[in-house]
Order: sequence, then structure tokens, then C-alpha cells
Amino acid sequence: MAEQKHGDLNGRRSYRSMGRRSSDCGLCWLCCSLLKLIISIAITVGAVIFAIWLVFRPNEIKVHVDNATLSRFTLTANSTLLYNLTLAMTVRNPNRRIAIYYDYVEAQAFYSGERFGLTTVPPFYQGHKTSSQLSPEFHGKQPALTSVNATFTREKGEGSFYVDVNLYTKIRLKVWIFKIHGLKPEIRCNVKLPAPAPARKNTTTIKFETTKCDVDLF
Ligand SMILES: *[C@@H]1O[C@H](CO)[C@@H](O)[C@H](O)[C@H]1NC(C)=O
Ligand SMILES: *[C@@H]1O[C@H](CO)[C@@H](O)[C@H](O)[C@H]1NC(C)=O
Ligand SMILES: *[C@@H]1O[C@H](CO)[C@@H](O)[C@H](O)[C@H]1NC(C)=O
Ligand SMILES: *[C@@H]1O[C@H](CO)[C@@H](O)[C@H](O)[C@H]1NC(C)=O
Ligand SMILES: *[C@@H]1O[C@H](CO)[C@@H](O)[C@H](O)[C@H]1NC(C)=O
Repeated sequence: MAEQKHGDLNGRRSYRSMGRRSSDCGLCWLCCSLLKLIISIAITVGAVIFAIWLVFRPNEIKVHVDNATLSRFTLTANSTLLYNLTLAMTVRNPNRRIAIYYDYVEAQAFYSGERFGLTTVPPFYQGHKTSSQLSPEFHGKQPALTSVNATFTREKGEGSFYVDVNLYTKIRLKVWIFKIHGLKPEIRCNVKLPAPAPARKNTTTIKFETTKCDVDLF
């Protein structure tokens, strides 16, 4: 009994002395453990994000213009551009675990920096590792294009026109049971289009060459 009491007293005494020692530098002990906590949280969060990235490994969508036909492209005396342009495009989702909802797709056509055509593509869904065919068409006339005259005259002489076709999209990603909203990738294609047949002096048919497009995710 006495021994136990003694031991108890010893224990309490040693505890008290320990407490006194730590209170000498209580602030730096607190700082130190807070820092350790923050660092370990940061490492854990980083590891979780890296693991998620490894599992889902997001890859950018791949877009090509496979074929394009410019059946009419003329600049009238009053600077009105008359155009008929049909494109055949492929959009590929290379991801194994990410599906994509294309909720809105708008195609715009530009010539020498001036927009001349606008059309929309119906919304579509794209599963894992699948491709979709899109065929935006532009028909009509765009007035007041005086600024394109020089480029038009030169490219008509060369036998082909360079047209930019951009797709402005609103998409959702579906990853397992989660959906990610609010992404608006922009797709930019610079296509070299053989001039409509009558405009060409050379009767040899110029074939359209498959063109890869740039994709900006943000
Ligand atoms: C591209 O379209 C034109 C006109 O529709 C067609 O004649 C041609 O065969 C197509 N080319 C390819 C590679 O599909
Ligand atoms: C261009 O499109 C317009 C309207 O769709 C059509 O009337 C015209 O025949 C087309 N012209 C050519 C050369 O394809
Ligand atoms: C320009 O010419 C086209 C065809 O010749 C015509 O359809 C259009 O109305 C004209 N535009 C203006 C602003 O005069
Ligand atoms: C375009 O420029 C040429 C000379 O560079 C001129 O003859 C022609 O009238 C111009 N066309 C238009 C629509 O301004
Ligand atoms: C027409 O174009 C082709 C290919 O660009 C070329 O090989 C050929 O010599 C040209 N013919 C003429 C008559 O200019």
C-alpha cells in the first residue's frame, strides 16, 4: 500500500515536472504539431487527387474534319459572300471511364477573320471510347465583307480557300456516378478547301485532306 502511494506520488511528481517543461515552450510545440497536421493533410489530399487522376486518366477529345465540300464561295460586287459549305467531322472520346454529354454545340465559320456562317448541331451523348460523326452545313450569304477582298482574290487564284470552323460547346462529364458540369471546350479547325470547280482553272480534282482540330478545354 505504502509503496503504491509512493509510486503514485512519484508519478504525479514526474508528470508535473513534464508539464512544466512543455509549458516552457508550449507555443512552439503547438506550432510544430499544427504544421505537422497541415503538411499531412496536404500530402493526403494530394495523394487522393493523384489516385483519382490515375484511375480516370482524363484524355482530351480528338476532333478531325474528314471531308469538306465547298460548292459555292463567291464574293459579289457589293461585297456579299455567297457560300455553301458542308463538313464531315469525327469527334472521338478516348476515355475509358468518362462519358460525355454534348448539351450544346454551335459551329461558326470564319473567312479571313470575319464570321460568315453560324449553325448548331443537335445535342448528343458519347459513351466510353466511342466516336460521333457531325456534319455541320453552312448555306447563305453574308453582306459587307469588304475586308476579305484581298485574301479572297489571292486564294481564288491559288485554287483553295482557308476557312476556320470553330465549335463552341457546353458539355457534362459523367465519371462513374458523378457528373461534372460547366465545361465549355472550344474546338478550332483550320481547313483548306478546294475552290468550287468552276473557279478553278486546273480541272484536276483537288481532294480534301483530313484535318486535325485543336481542342481547348477551358
Ligand atoms: C468527300 O465528299 C465528296 C462530296 O460529297 C465526295 O465526292 C468524296 O468522295 C468524299 N471524300 C471522302 C474521302 O469521303
Ligand atoms: C447553295 O445552297 C442554296 C441554299 O441551300 C441552294 O439554293 C443552292 O443551289 C446551293 N448552291 C450550290 C452551288 O450548291
Ligand atoms: C448584294 O448582292 C446580292 C447578290 O447580287 C444581293 O442578294 C444582296 O441583296 C446585295 N446586298 C446589298 C446590301 O446590296
Ligand atoms: C476587290 O478588289 C478588286 C481589286 O483588288 C476590285 O477590282 C474589286 O472590285 C473589289 N471587290 C469588292 C467586292 O470590293
Ligand atoms: C493541275 O494540278 C495538278 C496538281 O496540283 C498538277 O499536277 C497539274 O500539272 C496541273 N495541271 C495544269 C494544267 O495546271
